[in-house]
Amino acid sequence: MKITVLTGSSRKNGTSNYMADEFIRGAKESGHEIYRFDSAHADIKNCLGCNACGMGTKPCIHKDDFVELREHLLNSDVIVFVTPMYYFGMSSTLKKVIDRFYSIDSQLKNKQNKSVLISVQHAPASEVKEPLNNHYQAILSWLNMENAGIINAIGIENVEQLKTTSYPQMAYELGKNL
Ligand SMILES: Cc1cc2nc3c(=O)[nH]c(=O)nc-3n(C[C@H](O)[C@H](O)[C@H](O)COP(=O)(O)O)c2cc1C
Repeated sequence: MKITVLTGSSRKNGTSNYMADEFIRGAKESGHEIYRFDSAHADIKNCLGCNACGMGTKPCIHKDDFVELREHLLNSDVIVFVTPMYYFGMSSTLKKVIDRFYSIDSQLKNKQNKSVLISVQHAPASEVKEPLNNHYQAILSWLNMENAGIINAIGIENVEQLKTTSYPQMAYELGKNL
């Protein structure tokens, strides 16, 4: 399968990117084709809400890294969202990319992709993940996408501590068994 992995942290060696690495390692071992897009290090302009795209009838007016990403999204079987928890939601860099889905909204709906969410949060309280998970489920419902797995790594201090938990293995296995 073709898989697009969208990451959301500026910290290249941070916890959520480590989880993305593990997911990708498993997916590659199973022969899947991966396109990784690091939102925080890409040139992605804000959606202007100008509606020039007509939600999928014309390309977005911005000429930035979404031009290349768009083709991958439209040719993917699975879209993977990887994000640090920021104020009970996804990071703004990842959200900015998702806002640009507006220009391919109708195509994505017709494709009926599978999707995965991987998040990392500092708080040990399990309920803290719910607003993010609810938002993810709402996006999936809107875009006719099917959830293929959610991993919420909770109570995470740093990469070294993350490595002592079962979360990286869960990410690896999710990629491997997609
Ligand atoms: C701006 C900001 C907001 C955050 N908000 C939350 C939060 O609401 N809940 C939480 O548990 N952790 C929160 N954190 C902690 C991060 O989710 C946590 O450190 C995560 O592991 C960072 O991911 P990264 O290493 O991939 O950058 C926040 C961190 C930052 C920098």
